[in-house]
Amino acid sequence: MFYKFMGNPIKVGVLFIVVIIGCSFFSSNDSAFSSTENYNYVNRHTNQLISILDKSVLLADSIFIEKRLSQLRANYFIARSYYKHIECFLEYSSPFDVKYFINGPLVKKSDLEIGTRIVDPHGFQVIEEQLFGVDSIDVPLLVSELTLLRESFKGFKNKLKNININDSQIIEMMQFEMIRISSLTLSGYDASFTKTNSLECISVFEGCRALLDGIKKNNLKSYPTENHLKLIAQLRLAENYCSINKNYDSFNRLFFITQHIKPIYKQLVKMHQATIFPYTQVDYAINLNNEKVFEKESYNINYFSIHTVDTFGLASQAKLGELLFFDPVLSGNNKRACASCHNPEKAFTDGFEKGVSYEKSVLDRNTPSLLNTIFQKNFFYDGRARQLEQQANDVLHNQKEMNSTIEDMISKLNQSQEYQQLFKRSFKGTPDTVINYYGMLKAIAEYEKTLISMNSRFDKYIKGDYKQLTKQEINGYNLFSGKALCGSCHFFPLFNGLVPPIYNDTEYEVIGVPEKMNSKEIDKDQGRIVVSRVNIHQYAFKTPTVRNSALTGPYMHNGVYKTLDDVIDFYNKGGGQGLGINIPHQTLPFDSLQLTKQEISNIKSFMLSLTDTTGLNKRPKKLPLFKDETLNHRIVGGEY
Ligand code: HEC
Ligand code: HEC
Repeated sequence: MFYKFMGNPIKVGVLFIVVIIGCSFFSSNDSAFSSTENYNYVNRHTNQLISILDKSVLLADSIFIEKRLSQLRANYFIARSYYKHIECFLEYSSPFDVKYFINGPLVKKSDLEIGTRIVDPHGFQVIEEQLFGVDSIDVPLLVSELTLLRESFKGFKNKLKNININDSQIIEMMQFEMIRISSLTLSGYDASFTKTNSLECISVFEGCRALLDGIKKNNLKSYPTENHLKLIAQLRLAENYCSINKNYDSFNRLFFITQHIKPIYKQLVKMHQATIFPYTQVDYAINLNNEKVFEKESYNINYFSIHTVDTFGLASQAKLGELLFFDPVLSGNNKRACASCHNPEKAFTDGFEKGVSYEKSVLDRNTPSLLNTIFQKNFFYDGRARQLEQQANDVLHNQKEMNSTIEDMISKLNQSQEYQQLFKRSFKGTPDTVINYYGMLKAIAEYEKTLISMNSRFDKYIKGDYKQLTKQEINGYNLFSGKALCGSCHFFPLFNGLVPPIYNDTEYEVIGVPEKMNSKEIDKDQGRIVVSRVNIHQYAFKTPTVRNSALTGPYMHNGVYKTLDDVIDFYNKGGGQGLGINIPHQTLPFDSLQLTKQEISNIKSFMLSLTDTTGLNKRPKKLPLFKDETLNHRIVGGEY
């Protein structure tokens, strides 16, 4: 997440930014801008940002920079505070600018949205590293970053005149911000050198109070005053907590999330439900009308699938999908099913380093868990499939896995009246009532969508049952999201690499997993580069969830680590680079984490609290009957 490349400093022209800012323009035309008050608030903070950055550019552009360092640092803190006051607004209206130019992490980025272009890190975090994290400042880099940041805010200021954001959206952006604080700010996503994360939260809450006051002035007549007052009081309490608990390492994240963030969020939902603030009609990953934030109910499952508007017959399609998932009839030799490798008793993994192929040899990769697999936008370790349907299509044809053909599968399934009936019933009212390949993939995907595991002891704690976690486990979470940096890639609460709170951006990371235990050779698997063709993605893999990791070993794409202790030891040594492997693009910091034995044991106990297979480790008792008697001897879940 944080490691900065030693390569060339930035060479991106201002022109590129202007173009990008133009593209990422957000506007909603259905109602006027919130209040003049709020417009002025955001505008004023933007002006202040431009002005303080302007001063900093002049200060930095000097051979006497060392003498001016304390002033530059002070300016940095002031700028950060202005920024955090309006962060929710910037993230909502200009997510692209924030991600690439204002507050992106310290790694080079390349994403399909920008083609094969590689963007160097820019913005606050680069400036922070120069001012707080290096022995000798790279003056030209610092000056150009300060200038670039100032230009970004100038661009935003121009755009602001035309932005149409109503009061509902202001409440929504605050909801998102509460998630952002919990999943990113308090997990070390930014402020990685100053460690001022909790102080920065104070600015966020102050900003929210100001925006709420703006809304209030805009809606004097039918305003839910009682809600408003409660919310303001809760925000003040949260500010108070942060001002007392400034230390990043000892900050009790779980206490703060459950005692402060959740109540604020709940109150925001209530505000939103007050009739004068209708919901915007946008399909977000988060059900903004549900107050159970960080729980299963707050996720909009359809957002993660291609069938966003499809709600009919899903349960019976999932039932059909379950049968197909366990039915070896879909394979070339009628002996292998999806469940051959994705075994429900092992959280849908197989317990092997690498999967067992159709020919009973070894596959290229470790079999990932399918629990919570729906909460992703890309599938496979290299992200080559973008939907579950596409993923299943890949496996069914793969000669090493199920080795089948569409014609074969359809003609076999058609020999079963029971399957014919099931398709007919499940797809009633659609063109897919006869057995067809698309319906098959859809049914399997619907089944996979039901494999949601969010009722572990950790989840119960988040829901308010505080007896569920021990002190060690709570401390383990704080280490996971604090000192050990794990949470900056495995984001709370899904703990995978899909970035909250919008969940449209999958992160691929180069952590340097070796070929064998104790080896100094990197694993040969090229990773994401094969899909993206971008060199920084060599050896990059999608960040998987650590939920249920008690059951998903061996770990990593090649199954190199047998135990969670091995995994934590790998990270503690600084990943591949720390082991002595030369990987220039490693995105994991390569200094040792300096975790003590006790800390390692706490992190592990936290990860073990993320296990939940309730109702998820079952398999169908029998499979549909066929005319062909020999087929009726097939085994649920396959022979091998
Ligand atoms: C021979 C073993 C095997 C069989 C059979 C198998 N899989 Fe997999 N599955 C794997 C492996 C190995 C991967 C990871 C491959 C990669 O990343 O390149 C995987 C990946 C996946 C993923 C992506 C998960 C993620 O987090 O990216 C899904 C979903 C999945 N399989 C579903 C299925 C379904 C549905 C079937 C049946 C149609 C199936 N698998 C059959 C071994 C298997
Ligand atoms: C820079 C981002 C990053 C950081 C920081 C990070 N991880 Fe990971 N993690 C990944 C990626 C990427 C993978 C998959 C790597 C692979 O398969 O080769 C992974 C895999 C894992 C797995 C294996 C999951 C499985 O089922 O195979 C576990 C467990 C894990 N990480 C735990 C941790 C812990 C504990 C920490 C903190 C000590 C941590 N991670 C820090 C990115 C990160």
